[in-house]
Amino acid sequence: MSTFEREKREYFQKLYTEDTAKHYVRVHGWLEAARKRLAKIRSTERRKRHSAKYFTLPGEYAVDVLLLANNGIIQQTEVGFPRVVYCERDLQTVSVINKKLGRCMGVFSGTFERVVFTRDFQSYCPFDIINLDLTKEIFPLDGRPESNTIRAIEKLLWLHKNREFDFYLTFKSSRKETNPDAVREFERMVIDNFKNNKTWEETFVKNCGGGVKELLKSDFTLFWCKSFPKWILETGITNNVAGSLQGEYIYLRKPPYGAPYHIVTFLFSFARKSHGLMGKHKAVSECKEEIFRSFALTPFDVDKYLKENTAEKTKLKEDLARILKTPPKISKV
Ligand SMILES: C[S@@+](CC[C@H](N)C(=O)[O-])C[C@H]1O[C@@H](n2cnc3c(N)ncnc32)[C@H](O)[C@@H]1O
Repeated sequence: MSTFEREKREYFQKLYTEDTAKHYVRVHGWLEAARKRLAKIRSTERRKRHSAKYFTLPGEYAVDVLLLANNGIIQQTEVGFPRVVYCERDLQTVSVINKKLGRCMGVFSGTFERVVFTRDFQSYCPFDIINLDLTKEIFPLDGRPESNTIRAIEKLLWLHKNREFDFYLTFKSSRKETNPDAVREFERMVIDNFKNNKTWEETFVKNCGGGVKELLKSDFTLFWCKSFPKWILETGITNNVAGSLQGEYIYLRKPPYGAPYHIVTFLFSFARKSHGLMGKHKAVSECKEEIFRSFALTPFDVDKYLKENTAEKTKLKEDLARILKTPPKISKV
């Protein structure tokens, strides 16, 4: 392992175990949204005693899985997590997660972008909660302009056609490490969409202080916050699911080995579109309203909040340490 790779690995290990900004999003973003999802699941007679079926990229510490299990969102037994399916691209990390979580419903070794197209993965769909906690950009510099991640998300939404579910998405926002051709394509798509809908464009300009081009130049992260939800909501509606943006969080990372970048997290909740002409009409107009709302939403600045709320920061640090110190009790399987 080169010094650069070692530095990077150490930095990330520290991040997942000490980063209070990330833990803020876990606790106040994912967990709060997941509580609402669980209440929805249990509001139906058939599932009133169910826990959530969860798909995640847990990483070696699997903090999200432990947090959701500790709070009764997902089930934990003495042998593992029977309603959790996870995916990890790094083989070594898969075996670490395996030891930590014991027996899970499904384990996928490989990139999510590939796994989502396999029959095996599709046999586990649908999920109640999908948590894509990605470490890279949505359009990585070394990737194709027609991003594999975008295609994979499209497929995932298609696999959840007519379903009720939550979708949490996290990615890195770094202008330097993002494929410029792909960004241009995404920008073109947004602008092109506006051509047929002047009200959208006007609302966008009013809320963002300028057009798409200007925003892309002035604030790369805000560009994602204003354009990505629109793409997700529109993709949802073509799959008969009406989405709503439940939250949007950003925080800064300053790695010792490279330029600073932001992490962006979106929380979406999807509901089945009702049938019939009126149902379709209502869903499309609700989708439009939701897109307007997403233009106006200011992303929650986690760093700023924690700087002003040091007691909360300490509480999060302690909570994270407690989760990591008390690994799940898994009997040998
Ligand atoms: C950000 S970490 C997960 C942290 C965890 N969710 C938590 O709450 O602490 C992401 C993990 O997923 C893996 N990963 C990232 N992108 C992936 C992808 N596209 N496909 C498969 N695994 C991926 C990384 O190797 C890493 O172990």
